[in-house]
Amino acid sequence: MTNLKKRLLTGDRPTGKLHLGHYVGSIQNRVKLQDEYDCYFIVADLHTLTTRPEKENVVEVPGFIRELVLDYLACGIDPVKSTIFLQSHVPATFELNLYFEMLITLPRLSRLPTIKDMARAASLDDESLPFGLVGYPVLQAVDILLPRAVLVPVGRDNEAHVEIAREIGRRFNHTYGADVFPEPEALVPSERLLPGTDGQSKMSKSLGNAIYLSDDAKTVEQKVRSMFTDPKRIRADIPGTVEGNPVFIYHDYFNDNIAEVADLKERYRTGKVGDVEVKRKLAAAINRFLEPLRERRAQYEGNPRFLDDILAAGTERMNTVATETMHMVRDAMGLFPKA
Ligand code: TRP
Repeated sequence: MTNLKKRLLTGDRPTGKLHLGHYVGSIQNRVKLQDEYDCYFIVADLHTLTTRPEKENVVEVPGFIRELVLDYLACGIDPVKSTIFLQSHVPATFELNLYFEMLITLPRLSRLPTIKDMARAASLDDESLPFGLVGYPVLQAVDILLPRAVLVPVGRDNEAHVEIAREIGRRFNHTYGADVFPEPEALVPSERLLPGTDGQSKMSKSLGNAIYLSDDAKTVEQKVRSMFTDPKRIRADIPGTVEGNPVFIYHDYFNDNIAEVADLKERYRTGKVGDVEVKRKLAAAINRFLEPLRERRAQYEGNPRFLDDILAAGTERMNTVATETMHMVRDAMGLFPKA
């Protein structure tokens, strides 16, 4: 069965559970794009080695892989429509990575702010910067170009890496006089980042301000109760600020009861509602939103074999496409002439 839809590739490093910020910033969009595109979702386990190659970190990765796949499935990524696969189990990745390393310069890579940021976050200076971390975008270019994807939904922080993939693909085609790789486009969400529960601009695991997609109802209630809100509002009868208030930003994203949100905003602005009520209704709304995710998660969680099978089937599908691409690559390069 040939799929005539255009190919899309995106994915994540398995580093822990996904939270509401991931949902708003990317997963929601992926679920929507599943019908329009032939979607490949990569679980980029090899990329975790670029900053965390130590044994004690590596042994955690299998658990993170399961959590990530479970989060994908809970969100409604459909393993029948879409291909979820494990990067380390696509052997062509290693081969294409080596060819690509020859088609980009070291200064081009080391000047990227993203590499500097990752190095800083991992407390690595110029002297301790691993070769593999500099090569992070090359490996990402492999992920994107191996299935010859044309669309790559990523956050703003990854846009420069898609540009690297475009450059390498173009360079390959030009160097070997072939037309193997299409030029992938980045698809960057226009929405602003979801703030953390503490009011910081970004929800993130390391900041400890996240509500996870796998949190149970009680945990959600607790986290919402302690959320940052308008600090000037020390009593319920003081008019409050709705704009930029994380509690209302969340209401806008997750509360499907539009009339309730409008009423709460109105009363908040005029000092006629307490924070307790606003937050109680927000927690209820987030729990309503998470309920279908919890139901889907429960179906998969009960059967770990199911998860392994989904990942194995997706990886097999990816390997079929990769084999096709590598035939084209080797043919274009003429490195392995046919007998
Ligand atoms: N670099 C991405 C991140 O920040 C993960 C990733 C690896 C990726 N390979 C990719 C994203 C290919 C999009 C396409 O976590």
